Amino acid sequence: MPTETVYGLAGNALDPGALAAIFKAKERPTFDPLIVHIGETTLQGLLDAGIVDGARIPTGLRDALDRMASAFWPGPLTLVLPKTPRVPDLATSGLPTVAVRSPRHPVAQALLREAGVPLAAPSANRFGRISPTTAQAVREELGGRIPWILDGGPCEVGLESTIVGMSADGSGELELLRAGGVPIEKIEAVLGYRLKRRTSVAVAGTAAVAPGMLESHYAPAKRLEILPAAVRDLPESFRIAAAEVVGLLAFSGDEGELSKKFSALREGPVRVRVRVLSRTGDLDAAAQALFAAMRELDASDAEVIYAEPCPSSEGLGFAIADRLRRAAAPRG
Ligand code: TXA
Ligand code: MG
Repeated sequence: MPTETVYGLAGNALDPGALAAIFKAKERPTFDPLIVHIGETTLQGLLDAGIVDGARIPTGLRDALDRMASAFWPGPLTLVLPKTPRVPDLATSGLPTVAVRSPRHPVAQALLREAGVPLAAPSANRFGRISPTTAQAVREELGGRIPWILDGGPCEVGLESTIVGMSADGSGELELLRAGGVPIEKIEAVLGYRLKRRTSVAVAGTAAVAPGMLESHYAPAKRLEILPAAVRDLPESFRIAAAEVVGLLAFSGDEGELSKKFSALREGPVRVRVRVLSRTGDLDAAAQALFAAMRELDASDAEVIYAEPCPSSEGLGFAIADRLRRAAAPRG
């Protein structure tokens, strides 16, 4: 199903058979829990949906949750909260919490209404790979393994949802578990305080942390390297790999000029396949274009992909930088 962030592989969140089919189609390890999508857009609606256990939400957090739901639902914010027994363990990888969000894509909302059940939906890619932002990308990832692809057009946001949950350290504080489609500063403005940020990174095989935190994730098959600076600011001494064809993911500028400047960084001849995320350097536009551009360069004849560093850590810049870093992380 389409959502405003990325396409999701949806199934009845209350049906263990459907959940097992999701894990199988994605080749996803069962220690990586799923996000459950609902049509309700308020804290009360969420509690009425019967998948979150209101009694186990600390009273001190209710107001904050209420405000986040009102401000960002429907939309790209996921909340991790205590689950009810109705939610199968497979959906949460045995964790006592469930990740929930109300998507704002009209087709997702219509599907949720028609289905009449919450829909578990991880991103519709094979495990560890780039999330799909078009129906065609879903076909490339999962074609032949799933019966239907609901085409809702290109995703508007282009990055997965921001995930916020109660800190696992028992402090009762809210913590940012994954940067994403809602900028953290917007959440903090609604809360009136800073979210805790996880600094350590999860190790594969441990369920107690958000596997969205896995270091190598959202990754193209090819090697991706982040440049030390934007192409126009690279020192003359900088040298690119000895390859015949390289890919370049740029944040702004003109394709022809970027290609010329970049190929001059190699003594021998080199062809450069360029994707410019936004001609004007707009970060929202860059976020929307990012995964499709990575996918195209991955499918091209480029032997290695270079990416300019994200020019800003404000707004969606923080989440874009996070995805680039993971795409560039050594594969394990
Ligand atoms: O935008 C999105 O969030 C998309 C669309 C389809 O909604 N979905 C998505 O799902 O990105 P997925 O499965 O690729 O990522 C879900 C992340 C996982 O990395 C998982 O760790 C985290 O949500 N998560 C799920 N349940 C959790 C829990 N109980 N505690 C901590 N993290 C959890
Ligand atoms: Mg995913």
